[in-house]
Amino acid sequence: MKIPVIKLKRALLRPLKLTDAESITRNANNKNIAWNLTDRFPYPYKIADAKKWIKKNLSKKMDERTFAVVIDDLAVGAISITRNNEHSGVIGYWLGEKYWGRGIMTEVVRAIVQHAFKDKKIIRISANIHTDNPGSKRVIERAGFKREGVLKKHAKRFGKYKDVYVYAKVR
Ligand SMILES: CC(C)(COP(=O)(O)OP(=O)(O)OC[C@H]1O[C@@H](n2cnc3c(N)ncnc32)[C@H](O)[C@@H]1OP(=O)(O)O)[C@@H](O)C(=O)NCCC(=O)NCCS
Repeated sequence: MKIPVIKLKRALLRPLKLTDAESITRNANNKNIAWNLTDRFPYPYKIADAKKWIKKNLSKKMDERTFAVVIDDLAVGAISITRNNEHSGVIGYWLGEKYWGRGIMTEVVRAIVQHAFKDKKIIRISANIHTDNPGSKRVIERAGFKREGVLKKHAKRFGKYKDVYVYAKVR
């Protein structure tokens, strides 16, 4: 399915482009971001990582829909929904630190969830949130997700095991 352009008040969501690599790298190369994401998210984050990730996303085979979060014409974050199976997906997102705390991801997550549920086959969207990530908990709860449980020591970041909350929104 084609990734649309979604215009919001605080940001524009659109498909990634190879020319986003520089801005993505500048914003993604941040330990405060990597700390809250899986260990598949590189740190340090290099331009080659951005190019590889963007190319993978542009390949039609990938079962993941990723949108660039664009502010002032620059891709400064990303949000994706990865399909688990025919009826459910997992949401993941990050934003460059200098844009935090302005309500941007609250608006973005709500819009993407609304968009994903337009597909009538999708009845469940989940999110895995480290228990020490209050900002993301706030964002996901405001999007109507409910906490279902905790996965003890599910994640490992920078040598530390981390507990992870499972949140989901179910149709
Ligand atoms: C989590 C993240 C996406 C939030 O994006 P954002 O645009 O700053 O989010 P918003 O501004 O819409 O909302 C964040 C809310 O959390 C609150 N918050 C942030 N840090 C907090 C903290 N340490 N304690 C309590 N609340 C906190 C903010 O005050 C805000 O609430 P408010 O609007 O009521 O003031 C962003 O911080 C980020 O990219 N973090 C690193 C990667 C990450 O954690 N991704 C999610 C993985 S599940």
